Amino acid sequence: MDQTSHDRLLIIDFGSQVTQLIARRLRELNVYCEIHPYQNVDGAFLQAFDPRAVIFSGGPDSVMREGSPRPPAEVYRLGVPILGICYGQQVMMHDLGGKVEAGEHATAEFGRAYVTPTTSHSEVLDGWFSGDDDREQVWMSHGDHVSEIAPGFEVYGTSPGAPFAITGDPARRFYAVQFHPEVHHTPNGKTLYANFVRMAGFAGDWTMDAYREEAIRKIREQVGDKRVICGLSGGVDSSVAAVLIHEAIGDQLTCVFVDHGLLRLNEADEVVSMFRDNYNIPLIHADESELFLGELEGQSDPETKRKIIGKLFIDVFQKHANEIEGAEFLAQGTLYPDVIESVSFSGGPSVTIKSHHNVGGLPEKMGLKLVEPLRELFKDEVRALGRELGLPDSFIGRHPFPGPGLAIRCPGEITREKLEILRKADAVYIDQIRKHGLYDDIWQAFVAILPVRTVGVMGDGRTYDYACALRAVTSVDGMTADYYPFSHEFLGETATRIINEVKGINRVTYDITSKPPGTIEWE
Ligand code: XMP
Repeated sequence: MDQTSHDRLLIIDFGSQVTQLIARRLRELNVYCEIHPYQNVDGAFLQAFDPRAVIFSGGPDSVMREGSPRPPAEVYRLGVPILGICYGQQVMMHDLGGKVEAGEHATAEFGRAYVTPTTSHSEVLDGWFSGDDDREQVWMSHGDHVSEIAPGFEVYGTSPGAPFAITGDPARRFYAVQFHPEVHHTPNGKTLYANFVRMAGFAGDWTMDAYREEAIRKIREQVGDKRVICGLSGGVDSSVAAVLIHEAIGDQLTCVFVDHGLLRLNEADEVVSMFRDNYNIPLIHADESELFLGELEGQSDPETKRKIIGKLFIDVFQKHANEIEGAEFLAQGTLYPDVIESVSFSGGPSVTIKSHHNVGGLPEKMGLKLVEPLRELFKDEVRALGRELGLPDSFIGRHPFPGPGLAIRCPGEITREKLEILRKADAVYIDQIRKHGLYDDIWQAFVAILPVRTVGVMGDGRTYDYACALRAVTSVDGMTADYYPFSHEFLGETATRIINEVKGINRVTYDITSKPPGTIEWE
């Protein structure tokens, strides 16, 4: 558990897919919070954490199932405000003497719903129900529902499927809602969180400037006069981590940039010159593309590809890191969502969709200790920190790029030929997006080369070339995403340019899948 001088809010995770968004909303309110899976939270943990308020997340289970997730009983005796969301509401009601019923019938609600107020009002709803039609749109996702509220609770809002949509016990400052105020489809949800943290007495003083100062102090304290190595990917996260650590300890830091041959056009040169020339940070440039591409030959299963890359990356990194004498620490640009993801690997409540590229296990193997100065941040907070540190906007604003690189944009078998085609197509696509002034409106855009050739006709001749898919999404955090609504003119012009300028592609499609049900990358 991290030590911070700020008031802390504890989110107990019962396995909802959107638990991180609760943290996100709170960070926007400048409140420091941490998510911990319910299995790790017991009385001693609560005492050590000393939260100023607690939130119970949603979750997929049913409180009526024996052995389903519960918070420790001590949480209700802390004397701090608690907010229960969805499953969190049901748990709270169940624990405190209310009733929950299975929702096989008409009470299950998924998606948009409308909550109307009752005659009771609570401060937690300040700013709610003030529109013309006296109702609020909320996002529901529940099978079970509360059928009887616990003693001491009042009802502030109801929906057709949830008679107890918003409830609270003002004496104990316990609040519980059936819907998800953290998602964008509950437009006034942030107000509810703002009210809750204000009522809990948070000062809202967790800012990026404060974070930077605190992070630098902690890095110096942790590292002392020892040496640190940092794996640089060229992405925003590891770059910000490197610059922050360099600011804290100067030349005690050496960066290692592993080129796995799966980077975009000119990417390796750009990264190397940025760090060597602009920042004067000692950098080892390890060109290992032959090794990676060789091992990937003949492999087409997405998880196998990811695992090969992950393992090789560790081996190669280790080999080069060993050249740096006396290194005791390994720096990583691990972000908060990665921390939560890895919790789920080790038995946390949410389901793993893809094995994300990380270098977990490496520090123990090498006998290194970890420095992870971004562990508490979300992506856009890292960008804000990067700006604070003076990284150029053109760099900070770059779309995220996944660790396994172009490998996961080349579904099926990877060949050098396909990678070459993909790089060129991607460069044309991004150039188009920039020329039309759309780059900053899009969260991430890329081309995927498809494992299929199609027949075309060019200059009266037959072609038999690859098809590609353009992807562009809007998102806040990569957890959910929607496709970007390009104009038909833009799509038409881009398709023409790609087919004319990139030999090997004769068909261009646009991927209009949102996440969920799709994911952003193709693999
Ligand atoms: P998905 O495809 O899971 O991607 O919707 C969500 C975001 O994560 C990026 N991504 C990765 N980033 N290592 C990373 O550092 C990975 O293994 C990885 N896989 C996906 C993806 O580009 C998108 O921004």
